[in-house]
Amino acid sequence: MLKNYSPTQTEAWKKLQDHFAAVQPKHLRDMFAQDPERFQKFTFQVNDTLYDLSKNRITSETLSLLTQLAKEMDVPAAIESMFSGERINVTEDRAVLHTALRNFTDEALSIDGEDGSKEVRAVQQQMKVFCNKLHSGEWTGYTGKRMTSIVNIGIGGSDLGPKMVVEALKKYQKPDLEVHFISNVDGTDAAEVLRKLDPETTLFIIASKTFTTKETITNAETARGWFLNKAVDREHIKKHFVALSTNIDAVTKFGIAQENAFRFWDWVGGRFSMWSAIGLSVACALGYDKFEEVLRGAESMDKHFRKAPLEENVPVLMALLSIWYTNFFGCQTHAILPYDQYLRLLPEYLQQLLMESNGKSADRNGNRVTYQTQPVVWGAAGTNSQHSFFQLIHQGTVLIPCDFIAPAKSHNEVGNHHALLLSNFFAQTEALMKGKTADEVREELNQKGMAGEELENLLPHKVFEGNKPTTSIMMKQLTPFELGSLVAMYEHKTFVQGVIWNIYSFDQWGVELGKQLAGTIEGELLQGKSSDHDSSTNGLMDFYRNNK
Ligand code: F6P
Repeated sequence: MLKNYSPTQTEAWKKLQDHFAAVQPKHLRDMFAQDPERFQKFTFQVNDTLYDLSKNRITSETLSLLTQLAKEMDVPAAIESMFSGERINVTEDRAVLHTALRNFTDEALSIDGEDGSKEVRAVQQQMKVFCNKLHSGEWTGYTGKRMTSIVNIGIGGSDLGPKMVVEALKKYQKPDLEVHFISNVDGTDAAEVLRKLDPETTLFIIASKTFTTKETITNAETARGWFLNKAVDREHIKKHFVALSTNIDAVTKFGIAQENAFRFWDWVGGRFSMWSAIGLSVACALGYDKFEEVLRGAESMDKHFRKAPLEENVPVLMALLSIWYTNFFGCQTHAILPYDQYLRLLPEYLQQLLMESNGKSADRNGNRVTYQTQPVVWGAAGTNSQHSFFQLIHQGTVLIPCDFIAPAKSHNEVGNHHALLLSNFFAQTEALMKGKTADEVREELNQKGMAGEELENLLPHKVFEGNKPTTSIMMKQLTPFELGSLVAMYEHKTFVQGVIWNIYSFDQWGVELGKQLAGTIEGELLQGKSSDHDSSTNGLMDFYRNNK
């Protein structure tokens, strides 16, 4: 079981506080100048991906104290508890075993004493057969035509992961099969997707772990209505609707044939579920073999995470860096900056993974934590983001640690675009680290012929403090395997942060209050029930009623 202990009580935490006072004034520019080995010292490779931590505000002693913190918080035991299927999701009384979905070894999957690996393999086989039928044209619609469009209907973990992976691996996509996603209960989402499609050649994948999520069920009903409007006979539903869920009863009640239900289990968390049947849209888009490569990439990161010593363990080090910035530097946000257009949905995906997992303020005793937990995660693809919010990262008043992510080789060698893109990646991380001193600015302006008062007035605006921390993640190429490995790295980083913050990372009770209130208000809006809210909510509801 997870240790239940405040990180602030550890020896390491106290030492880190003193150590922070010593490191905080140091400038990265000087640390690089003093140590030509800095890159080698702080760079780690897993498979074909480099994790360069050297542009972070750390010394060897920082890492040693942070790993001491991980040891004092029993991170190695927590890792084993997760992999061995202990019920570490205590508030929901569940095991956390998404790693079992990508375990290709013979290791038994022990769930309450039963070996669950057979069930996992059976669903994977079901997915594979389904994909093959779809791609070969054996699976046809109610008028005998092959499917040309797939629509995944889901939200949160039943949408963000598959959508991100399908986009990231677009280059591997099967021709002649379009993949769409509907998630928002805003009817515009469904209307805009369905407008382009033909019911005779469209297959809907209803993805919902619980099969009770209001948004998803509403969208699924709308899709079913749209389909039956043309197909008329409900018998045809079985050729056009499949479901991914743990709740098979609700699936069949909806009218989806039992043989079209792809199961998963309550030990797979929603935001950790893209490796399960929830990945069906990925397997359909890319082919099952490519989906399996994503799983194998994740498996390789799992092995690294489980076996590598803490000092070289990339997910652990990434988590510790986040704790260093959050709890010692007081950083409140973290930016994810993929320099790859295909990875543009990664920040959105990681927002749910990190913030739904670790956006908690009750510790494992139920007491309010006395330290910060998850910072806000945000970001966007470079270079576009350079022309929107980079100004603040360079010269604003808040310190924002950033992850820069890029492949060395592009899937689209268009002229010299990729060299230009990566020049920006390297230039930005270097500039953020070094900054530009007043002397350097003065020299530059002098050379342009500027002097005196004019120069002195402009000078402070052109100075860059630098010393802004970045982690550079570079892979040889964005392949299914490397993507799987990268996503698994972020999953494990999320888990380790939660272990150290002494919070439960695998529940999401905070989402419930909004759902409950929306349910009540929905009745008031649709059935005219009387409402009694605060004056603001009443006023807004009246405005809606009077103007709809
Ligand atoms: O946002 C809350 C949440 O429960 C997420 O954790 C989950 O990914 C999402 O809703 C969708 O849930 P379901 O897959 O059960 O429809």
